[in-house]
Amino acid sequence: MEEVHRWRGTEEERATRPRSIKTGQFAYFDRQLDRPDWRGRKVLDFGGNEGGLLLDPECVLDPADYYCLDVVPEALEEGRRRFPEAHWMHYDRYNCSFNPQGNPNEPIHDLGVAFDVIVAYSVFTHTTRAEMHDLVAQLRARLAPNGVLAFTFIDPHRNPLPDSWNVGALEWRLGRFRMTDPSIDVEGIVKRSEGSEWCALVDGTEFFPDSDGDGPPCMSYHVYYTVERMQAEFPDAEIRPPVNGEMQHCCVLRGGPGPLRRSAKPLQSSSFSPASPGRTTSDDAAGER
Ligand SMILES: C[S@@+](CC[C@H](N)C(=O)[O-])C[C@H]1O[C@@H](n2cnc3c(N)ncnc32)[C@H](O)[C@@H]1O
Repeated sequence: MEEVHRWRGTEEERATRPRSIKTGQFAYFDRQLDRPDWRGRKVLDFGGNEGGLLLDPECVLDPADYYCLDVVPEALEEGRRRFPEAHWMHYDRYNCSFNPQGNPNEPIHDLGVAFDVIVAYSVFTHTTRAEMHDLVAQLRARLAPNGVLAFTFIDPHRNPLPDSWNVGALEWRLGRFRMTDPSIDVEGIVKRSEGSEWCALVDGTEFFPDSDGDGPPCMSYHVYYTVERMQAEFPDAEIRPPVNGEMQHCCVLRGGPGPLRRSAKPLQSSSFSPASPGRTTSDDAAGER
């Protein structure tokens, strides 16, 4: 079951929410950002849902420094219930899967905070390419001068978990869909994906190579970019491979408002490196995003 089903699915699917929360996002970004000193840092979790980042056992953030924006109000309510001292803001922006009733042009609210770190785990894997660029530009404008924005993406062709699977990430996803819909032509779609730099999968059946299909209202929506394509989308980004047994690559953009730039004074490294060994997550935890 995918994240969207936990909020927009059947009653039975929604009932699984308490026992299907993904954690590991904090440890993931901690490693992708080279273990910065998080103390006192203002962190925006864009598309942070119910705050899985704070629930991560490795999370060292003070909830009072944590801000979460999401399009699903029920998720924010859950987060607020667990961490009332954190900041939970509804963002009623259209998302074809998570919020098909939202406003496509809703700007990101000014929260009156310049963020040291903005993270988005598995958010731009569910938006159109145009939305990704619009939202990333708006998020960059919310960074403190030496802040950093890190968001995840999935390469359709690479196998991020060679110890667990022997297929690329798109084929793995299609295999999951075929468990509930045996008519899905996994091999045919994988063949059509060959050579594509980016692609979208709508409801597990409609496939758009080198396109996002314009994000039609749907239940599930997955957009993939190859590493090379994501680098071309954001030429100044640092692209990092998956860590901790997760399947998602990371795109790291440094610098605040204005032309994209690398930070002259990066976030200070904390004293508790070296990084812990990669954590192996289950297929569900790693993949059902
Ligand atoms: C796959 S979930 C990941 C949730 C969370 N980041 C995590 O790792 O558990 C994708 C999240 O992105 C949110 N989302 C989708 N489009 C968004 C947008 N335009 N603005 C903010 N959040 C969005 C969804 O509501 C959902 O909570």
